[in-house]
Amino acid sequence: MNSSFRTDRTYALELDRQDPLSAFREQFVIDNPDMIYMDGNSLGRLPKVVAERVNSVVTGEWGNDLIRSWNQGWWESPTRIGEKIATLIGAAPGQVIVGDSVSVDLFKLTTAVLSLQSGRTKIITDTLNFPSDLYVLQGCISLLGNKHKIIRIGSQDGEITPDLQALYNAIDRDTALVTLSHVVFKSGYLYDMAAITEKAHQVGALVIWDLCHSVGALPIELDACHVDFALGCTYKYLNGGPGSPAFVYASQDMGQNATSPIWGWWSQSSPFSFDLDYIPAPGMKKFLTGSQPIISMLSLEAALEPHLQAGMQPLRKKSIQMSEYFIQLSDSILSPLGFKLGSPRIPEQRGSHISLRHPEGYRINRVLIDELNVIPDFREPDNIRYGLAPIYTTFADIWDAADRSRQAVADKLYEKIPLTRLTVT
Ligand SMILES: Cc1ncc(COP(=O)(O)O)c(C=O)c1O
Repeated sequence: MNSSFRTDRTYALELDRQDPLSAFREQFVIDNPDMIYMDGNSLGRLPKVVAERVNSVVTGEWGNDLIRSWNQGWWESPTRIGEKIATLIGAAPGQVIVGDSVSVDLFKLTTAVLSLQSGRTKIITDTLNFPSDLYVLQGCISLLGNKHKIIRIGSQDGEITPDLQALYNAIDRDTALVTLSHVVFKSGYLYDMAAITEKAHQVGALVIWDLCHSVGALPIELDACHVDFALGCTYKYLNGGPGSPAFVYASQDMGQNATSPIWGWWSQSSPFSFDLDYIPAPGMKKFLTGSQPIISMLSLEAALEPHLQAGMQPLRKKSIQMSEYFIQLSDSILSPLGFKLGSPRIPEQRGSHISLRHPEGYRINRVLIDELNVIPDFREPDNIRYGLAPIYTTFADIWDAADRSRQAVADKLYEKIPLTRLTVT
């Protein structure tokens, strides 16, 4: 906790003046500074360089160069961009590839793991995981003849932190796979990747880490933690744009041993020989299948620039400073109005978003968006998530978000919002 903390806005402006990363905000399109964007943990802001790059890809590379562009950087883009992401997640060259979505890639990795682990029947995950991950696991089990069972570890504190003792007890010699979100999507709880991976390996289980809410928000050391597989999305903290492709990581061993279940020409060893029989490409290319969305792929490549320049350690330092500040503000001005912290209090146990819980969370979130020019998001049953993206969020943004949340409740502004939910919350 910072002892010089004050609740006035001038203090936020002082923190912004001291922020060594403040210049990075200039690299993003921010047309309306009064609109406080707190959803970079869901869809990151648009980097200016992406707008320029999309224009040159569409008009120059597609419009003018046409099919020749495949030989001028398009074909190799999944591997080339994978190498850039590798530097953000502690992976040596040759271990990361970009393509498809997290859900599709999780299907590939899960089936690959289960076929390497024949005879073992347990898949360990938790109730805090993103539901799509659980659906994919259920689909894999159904496809493979219902021989496996999923163990979902719960939480003893209302879905903020997982029951770690139960998790450790559940991982045994019948465990094929442990798969968890590194940072969980509602509370922002951050797992100890090294410890859980080690526990899994002690009994011969393999791990898949979902990095969606940690990549670009904090340093990750996949090789040093001896992780088998990981994957993540690129449209949140990495700012790749809506639906930008996911990435897949495999350790050196797993990259050689695993077999992807979806075979296609992009993962074939010599795609332009058009052989009738499939031979997988060596290395990570085996996790590709077919044509990739090249405009989105190249947008992502440009979007990585600010993170590659800033480095993950300074970004993490700022992220922790921001979340501590937000929690202090919340304790001072929001908790008297019924807001409760829905994220861990210990900074080392959380990612870069903070959930505040309130019985009127849905309507508060909506009135913030519709009338108070603050954009967080809402996750059932009562979580308002405030995403703090260290590359562009300011301390003044945080003060404004807290103050307008106060106003939403103190002035009962939320009462005019209907209780029926919009499709996207
Ligand atoms: C933790 C987590 N895992 C998986 C997904 C699914 O990603 P995709 O829609 O790219 O399949 C998301 C999406 O937000 C997520 O937050």
